[in-house]
Amino acid sequence: MSELVRDIREICGTYGNDPTRLMDIARAVQIKCGCVCSEAIDLIARAIQIPRVEVESLVSFYAFLSVKPKGKVVIRLCNDIIDEMFGAEKVGRAFAEELGIQFGETTPDGKLSLEHTPCIGMSDQAPAALIDDVVVTYLSSDRAREIVRLLRETGDPRRLVRRLGDGNNAHPLVRSMIHNNIRRDGPVVLAPLLPGQALRKALAMSPVEVINDIKTSRLRGRGGAGFPTGMKWEFTRAANGNGKCVVCNADEGEPGTFKDRVILTEHPDLVFEGMAIAGYAIGAELGIVYLRAEYAYLRAFLESVLQSRRQQNLLGQNLMGKPGVHFDIRIQTGAGAYICGEETALISSCEGQRGDPKDRPPFPAQKGYLGMPTTVNNVETFCCVARILDNGPGWFADMGSRGSTGTKVLSVSGDCSSPGVYEVSFGIKLSDLLTMVGADDASGVQVGGASGRMVAPAEFERTICYDDLATGGSVMVFGPTRNLLKVALKFMEFFVEESCGYCTPCRVGGVLMKRKLENIVAGRGEIGDLEYLQELGNTMKLTSRCGLGQTAPNPVLTTIQAFRPLYEADLQKRPVHAGRASFDIRAALRESEKLAGRSSEIFGIGEGSRHE
Ligand SMILES: Cc1cc2nc3c(=O)[nH]c(=O)nc-3n(C[C@H](O)[C@H](O)[C@H](O)COP(=O)(O)O)c2cc1C
Ligand code: SF4
Ligand code: FES
Repeated sequence: MSELVRDIREICGTYGNDPTRLMDIARAVQIKCGCVCSEAIDLIARAIQIPRVEVESLVSFYAFLSVKPKGKVVIRLCNDIIDEMFGAEKVGRAFAEELGIQFGETTPDGKLSLEHTPCIGMSDQAPAALIDDVVVTYLSSDRAREIVRLLRETGDPRRLVRRLGDGNNAHPLVRSMIHNNIRRDGPVVLAPLLPGQALRKALAMSPVEVINDIKTSRLRGRGGAGFPTGMKWEFTRAANGNGKCVVCNADEGEPGTFKDRVILTEHPDLVFEGMAIAGYAIGAELGIVYLRAEYAYLRAFLESVLQSRRQQNLLGQNLMGKPGVHFDIRIQTGAGAYICGEETALISSCEGQRGDPKDRPPFPAQKGYLGMPTTVNNVETFCCVARILDNGPGWFADMGSRGSTGTKVLSVSGDCSSPGVYEVSFGIKLSDLLTMVGADDASGVQVGGASGRMVAPAEFERTICYDDLATGGSVMVFGPTRNLLKVALKFMEFFVEESCGYCTPCRVGGVLMKRKLENIVAGRGEIGDLEYLQELGNTMKLTSRCGLGQTAPNPVLTTIQAFRPLYEADLQKRPVHAGRASFDIRAALRESEKLAGRSSEIFGIGEGSRHE
C-alpha cells in the first residue's frame, strides 16, 4: 500500500469516512501532503463514497486547498489596502527577491511558496503575513529577508516567533506574536465573566423566557446586517426539524475587521456561554464555531477551553445538572474563502461542500445545517447574549441608542495613532471616535469594511449605529496623503477576486466596474463614466443573488457620492459618447454569456446583506 493511500485512509477514518466532514479531510490532506492531488481526490471520493467531482469542486473552491503541490511552507502576504499603505509592496519585493521567485510560485527545491492573500485580520499590525498557520506582524523588508533565511535553515515557521504577544497570545497553546491592541474595553464584550455565571441564570428560566429577555434587550446581530437576535431565535425555535443547530460565525473576512479574533483570544468562554444559552433557548444540542483558516493558530487553545467547559459540565449532557438539556460545540475550520462568511455559504462549508450561497427561502432558521433549523450569529452577538442573561435586558437596553442598544466592538486601522480594538456605546459620533483613536486629520473613513461606505469629513458628525453608519466592526482611516479612488479600486479588486461567480451581475458587473475605475484612476476616464458606474452599481445591488454582489458596489457608489470632485479631477473632459452613460445589463451580459457558454442568472433583492 502506498504512503498516500495509507495517509488518506487514516485521515478519512479520523472523520468517520463522513462526507459532511470533507472540509476537514481536504484540509488535513493538504497539510499532510502539500496538496490534494488528482490521485488523492480519487482516494478520498472512494473512501467517503461520493462522486469524485464533488471532491474536485470543493478543492478548487478554497484558496487554502490546491490540486498542484505547494511548497512545504506557504508564505501568504496580505496585500489588502491597509497593508499596502504600510509598505506591503516593499515587503513583497523583499520576499520575492530573497526567495528568487514571483508571487504564485514555489521555489525549485519545493520548500517554499509565495502568495498574496486578502486581509488576514491583522490590519492593526500591518504589514502582516501568514506562514502556514503562523502569523507574522509589523513586517519590514529586512524582516522578510530574515524570515526566508530562517525558514531555509529550519523549515519550521514556529521558530519565527521570538517574542510573544500580550494576553492569551502568549498562552502555551497559542504562542503567537500577535497583539490584542485593546485600547478601550467596555462593560458588555471586553469584560470578564465567570464561566457558567450567565448560563446558570438562563437555565433557571424557560427557553421562551430567555428568548423574551433577548427580545427585550433589543439586541441586533453584530455581524453587520443587524437582524434582531431574539426574533431569529424565535423563528428557529418554532421551526420543525430533526434537531437544531447553533452556528457561531467566526469567519471574520471583511477587510479591516479583527475584533472577533481579539474576542476569541481573550473571552472565548463568553462566546461559548452565549452559544450554550442559544442552544437552550432554541432547543439545539449541537453548536459549531466556523473559524476562518487564518485563525487556525487559535484552534488548539479554543479546543482546550471547550474541554475545560466539558469538565465543568458547561457543555455536554444535562448542562449544569439540568436534566434533558444537552449541548456541545465543535470547531469547523474554513479554508480561505471570504464568501463563507455569508451564512448560507458558511453552512454549506460546514456540510463539507463548496461555499456557494443559497437561494432563500428556506432561511437557515427554517432549514440550515444538514437540514436542521439553524441560527447563525456573530461571535460578538453571543457575548452580548451571555452578558444580557447575566445583567438583565434593561441594563443592556439602557446603553447605546434607541434602534441600536448596547455597545459595539470596533476594529480601527489605517492612519491613526492608536489602531486596535475599541468597545464603544452605539451612537458614538464618528468625529469622537476619530479623536479617540488619534486621527484628527482623516480625509476619509471607510466604515463597515470593503462592503461599507466611505465617509467624507463633512459627514464626520454622523453616528455609528444601525440606523446611520452601520458596521460589523471595521473602521479604516485614510489620511490626507491617500488616494481614495485607489482605495475604492482596491476594494473592487477584492470583490472580483472573492465573487463565487454563480450569478452574472456580480461576476461580470464587478469586473466591468473595476475596469472602468482603473481607467479613471489612470486618467483615461470620460465624463459619462460616473453615470455608467452608478447605473451598473445599482443594477448589481438590485440583481445579485447574495450580500456580496449586493454590497460590492458600495465603495464606488459612496465615493462618487461623497468625493465626486476627486473623480471629476481625474476624468478627461471629453463629450459623452452616444449611449455610453446609460447602462444596459442585458447588452453587457450578452458577450459574457457567449464566452461562458451559458445563460445568465439575475436575481431579485435577497436577504442577508451586511449593510443595506
Ligand atoms: C459576503 C458576506 C460575508 C459575511 N461575513 C461575515 C462574517 O465574517 N462574520 C459575520 O458574523 N457575518 C458575516 N456576514 C453576515 C452573515 O451572513 C450573517 O448575517 C451573520 O453571521 C448573522 O449573525 P448576526 O445576526 O449575529 O449578525 C457576511 C455576509 C456576507 C454577504
Ligand atoms: S452575488 Fe452571486 S456571484 Fe456574487 S458571491 Fe453572491 S452568489 Fe456568488
Ligand atoms: S491584515 Fe492586511 S488589511 Fe487586514
